[in-house]
Amino acid sequence: MNAASRTKLNQTPEWTALAKHREELGAPRLRELFARQPERGTAYTLRVGDLHLDYSKHLVTDETLRLLRELAAATGVAELRDAMFRGEKINTTEDRAVLHTALRAPRDAVVEVDGENVVPAVHAVLDKMASFADQVRSGQWTGHTGKPVKNIVNIGIGGSDLGPAMAYEVLRSFTDRDLTLRFVSNVDGADLHEAVRDLDPAETLFVIASKTFTTIETITNATSARDWLLTELRAGQDAVAKHFVALSTNAEKVEEFGIDTANMFEFWDWVGGRYSYDSAIGLSLMVAIGPDRFREMLDGFHLVDEHFRTAPAEENAPFLLGLLGVWYGNFFDAQSHAVLPYSHYLSKFTAYLQQLDMESNGKSVDREGDRVDWQTGPVVWGTPGTNGQHAYYQLIHQGTKLIPADFIGFAAPVHDLLPGLIAQHDLLMANFFAQTQALAFGKTPEEVRAEGVPEELVPHKTFRGNHPTTTILADKLTPSVLGQLIALYEHKVFVQGAIWNIDSFDQWGVELGKVLAKKIEPLLTGDGGADAGQLDSSTAALVDAYRTLRGR
Ligand code: F6P
Repeated sequence: MNAASRTKLNQTPEWTALAKHREELGAPRLRELFARQPERGTAYTLRVGDLHLDYSKHLVTDETLRLLRELAAATGVAELRDAMFRGEKINTTEDRAVLHTALRAPRDAVVEVDGENVVPAVHAVLDKMASFADQVRSGQWTGHTGKPVKNIVNIGIGGSDLGPAMAYEVLRSFTDRDLTLRFVSNVDGADLHEAVRDLDPAETLFVIASKTFTTIETITNATSARDWLLTELRAGQDAVAKHFVALSTNAEKVEEFGIDTANMFEFWDWVGGRYSYDSAIGLSLMVAIGPDRFREMLDGFHLVDEHFRTAPAEENAPFLLGLLGVWYGNFFDAQSHAVLPYSHYLSKFTAYLQQLDMESNGKSVDREGDRVDWQTGPVVWGTPGTNGQHAYYQLIHQGTKLIPADFIGFAAPVHDLLPGLIAQHDLLMANFFAQTQALAFGKTPEEVRAEGVPEELVPHKTFRGNHPTTTILADKLTPSVLGQLIALYEHKVFVQGAIWNIDSFDQWGVELGKVLAKKIEPLLTGDGGADAGQLDSSTAALVDAYRTLRGR
C-alpha cells in the first residue's frame, strides 16, 4: 500500500465498523460468550510449530475477529510484510531494509538487498561464530598468558545486551556450566565492577557488542574493561587481541578501539538492534550453548517466520496477537499489556520484549510525519509467575484498569530438576491455569454469598472477571521454542506498527537524551569551563546540588 495515499486509520470504514461493533457489544462478558459458544475453548485456538495458542478468553466474537482482519487488510499489513521479506526499504526514516528474517533463513535461501543475496554472508558469519565458539568451549582459545578462557563478559546495551542476556537465562540448562558468562550494560561503573571483581583477567574474554560501536555506555565500559585487563595482567596493547572480540557493523570504529578486525563478527544495517540477537550479537550465547543449540534456536525463529509469511490471516498467530492488541488499545483504551511467563528461566523475557515492543511502536507520528490521533504501542510489563501473583495481580483482578495479558507456560521442565523438585511443576502449572480462569470468569456476588460471606464483605470478595488473556502453552522451553516465541512477538509488533502506520524500525526518541547528557557531563565535572547558563532553572539547580554534594 502506498503510504502517501493512505486514508488516516481512524477515518477508514473498517475502523468505523469496529467502533460501531464495540458500541453494540457493550460490556461483553466472558461467562456469556462461553455459555453461547460452548466449544469456544477449542475453537478459539491456534497451533504454530510447538506453540499452542488459546485466545478463547478474549472479549471478542467471530464478528470482532472478522472486522479486525478487515482492518488489517485495509491497512495493507500483508503487503508491508511481503515487502519486508523481499528486502524492500520499509524503514523509511532510515532508508533501510528490515531483514532480521534473513538471519535465520536456510543456507540455500535467496534474500536480496539492493540486488545482492545476503544469505551467504549471514551463513559465513554464523560459521565464523561457530568456529570461534568451538575454540572457546574446547579450551583452544587461550588468553595472553596461555590460559584457556573460562569467563566471558558481554559488554553492550539495549539490543546488544537484552537479547543475549535474556536468552542466556532462558537456556541456562543448555549452557556449558564450566564457563561463566556475565552481561554488562549500564554506564554505572558498579555494573562492570561487580562483573569482573572476582574474575581472573588471564581467563577472561570481553565481547564488545555494539551495532554502531559509538554507543557511549558500551565504549566507556569497553575502555574501562581494557584498562582493567591490561593493568591486572601488567600487559601491553598486544594482549587486547586475545581478550577482546567485537560484534558490530562498524569495522572502522572497531579498529580504532584497538580490536583486530579478524576478531570482529559482522552484521548489517538491515538488522535493527532490537532484532539482532540471532545475528553476531548472539556470539556470547552461542559460546554458552554451543553452535548446534544456537542453530536449533534459529530454526525455531524460521519456522514462525514462514508461518507469518504464508498462513492466511484467520490462522496467522502474529496477525491474531497483533489484532487483539489493537482491539484493546484502540477500542477499550487499554494502556498496557502484561506478559506473564510461568517459567523461572523466562525472568528476563519481559524486559527483552519491552525494548522490542516499546522502542518499535512507541511512536506518535505516522509514516507521513503527521501526528497520529489514535493510540499506538502499549506499556509492556510483567515478571514470572507465581511471584507476580503475590505482588501486582491484585490490581489486575480487582483494580480499575483493563490489562490484557499473555500467559506463557510449559508442560514439563526442560531438564531434570533435583529430586523432589519435579513435582513442583504441577503446582506451578495449576497456578498458571487457575489465574487465567479467575481473570476470565471471576466470582459473582451470588457465589460469594453462597459461601456464607457476611454481606458487608461481598463487594470486596467479588471478582468482576472479564480480564482478557492469551494462553501460550508448549511442551518444553527448548532453544527452538525460544526462537518460535521471539519470532511470534517480533511479528506481532510488526502487525501493530503496520496497522498504526508508524515506522516500527527507527528509534529517534532515544537521541535527545543522549545529546543533552553530552552537554551536561562537562557541567558536572567542571571540565572545559562549561557554561550552566543555558540550562532551565530546575536542571541548573539540580546540577548545582550535585556539584555541592561532590564537593566541586
Ligand atoms: O537505545 C538506542 C539504541 O540505538 C538501541 O536501538 C540499540 O539497541 C542500542 O541503542 C545499542 O546500540 P548499539 O548496538 O549501536 O551500541
